[in-house]
Amino acid sequence: MYEKLIPFFKEWFKETETYGFSIPKEYGQVLGQEPDHIHFEKTFGEFIQRMKGNYPFHSPQYAGQMLKPPHPYAWFAYSLAMTINPNNHALDGGPPSSEMEKEVMQELAEMVGYNNHFLGHLTSGGTVANLEALWVAKCLHPKKKILYSADAHYTHKRMADVLGIESASVPVDDFGKIDVIKLEEVLPGAGTLVVTMGTTGRGVVDEFDKIVPMCKSHGVRIHVDAAYGGFFKIIEDNLQNSTPWKSLSVADSIVIDPHKHGLQPYGCGSVLFKDPEVGRFYKHDSPYTYFTSDNLHLGEITLECSRPGASAAALWFTIKTLGLTPESPFGNMLKDCIQAAGKFAEEIDQSEYYSLIQQPELDIVCYFPVATSTSEITRLSKRIFDYGMKESQEPFFLSLYKMPSSVITKKHPEIVVDQTEVTVLRSVFMKPSHKEYVKKLIIQLETAYVDCSE
Ligand SMILES: Cc1ncc(COP(=O)(O)O)c(C=O)c1O
Repeated sequence: MYEKLIPFFKEWFKETETYGFSIPKEYGQVLGQEPDHIHFEKTFGEFIQRMKGNYPFHSPQYAGQMLKPPHPYAWFAYSLAMTINPNNHALDGGPPSSEMEKEVMQELAEMVGYNNHFLGHLTSGGTVANLEALWVAKCLHPKKKILYSADAHYTHKRMADVLGIESASVPVDDFGKIDVIKLEEVLPGAGTLVVTMGTTGRGVVDEFDKIVPMCKSHGVRIHVDAAYGGFFKIIEDNLQNSTPWKSLSVADSIVIDPHKHGLQPYGCGSVLFKDPEVGRFYKHDSPYTYFTSDNLHLGEITLECSRPGASAAALWFTIKTLGLTPESPFGNMLKDCIQAAGKFAEEIDQSEYYSLIQQPELDIVCYFPVATSTSEITRLSKRIFDYGMKESQEPFFLSLYKMPSSVITKKHPEIVVDQTEVTVLRSVFMKPSHKEYVKKLIIQLETAYVDCSE
């Protein structure tokens, strides 16, 4: 392996140098050569052994969390851009990748319907993107509360605390969406409401279309957290319910993570603001940077300073190559994920060993092993989760999700409620290869149920 990989890398560096990518000579020369050779080989051996400790994120066997390797185009562009290591803070840190970032933000803005009039940038992930959106919410309404749903990502409460702004959660309905009746009671006096388009737990989309007029009538801003769900906007007409997506451009700010469904490596989130005027809150002077050009430096509209230009380059390359339309390879991959989740839910619904919690809206499915009480469901779910990773003949990987017991018992009153919360199973089908795999997973799950019930 070592003997093959090192010459390959040397060849790769030599070849890419002809296109203007280059690593400093002193690095190129030491790669696997004396006197480093022995250390290199030893460390390399340890490295590959340790990386084997990862779960098989590339394989359909892994349907646990929102995790998958980036598309090879992203990998390709990232690794080349990384040899230059541009920094998208000030323009002089990476003029071409800064331009690429502006272009990809334009693509994302068009995707959500913001078109030319917006402000936006990439971030290191969804957490920082949401932090920036909530920070702008605070700048606009310093004395007004931020609301988010009980099923919104926990980052909203944490970031509101970091910002020192009052926040509160709004109850959800039985499907895990903002309860619009209860929302009406708490909206008066609030500053911004976080609407989640694709919740992390159940993958559901809040009823944006119903929420918008309510917020308008109370003068409440809307921030959409579409960190996970945002790219499904491309295939809105293929979704069971396209209505919430149609009016997405009404939102005041939107977060979308290219490192979730955008085929990118980690370190790539994004935030978009409908009103570019909010750029005034970011305004600051720098004694070190922003001298090379009067054009906008991305650092002037971000809270993070140094950011990888390679992220922008990789996303730019991926979008340019795969397109962002419903019929593009990108769109088709998303459709496959939706179909995989739909197929799996159908099978679970027919299984004598498992019950479906609700029909999936995107590509996350929650379900539970049949049992007589909520504590037994929790015990079996945890047992099956472990069994899949450690005992199954061929491993399979799920995740667990904690929810109020009432969600289950309303539909299944025969189940004894002996815990207020129940832990259920959750599968995220975010790889097109899951479409073929789900049948096999059902068989594995049924075997697991029988083995774990004994
Ligand atoms: C809806 C939602 N918002 C925010 C986040 C946090 O994003 P990140 O992990 O990229 O910081 C996640 C992560 O799963 C998410 O699903």
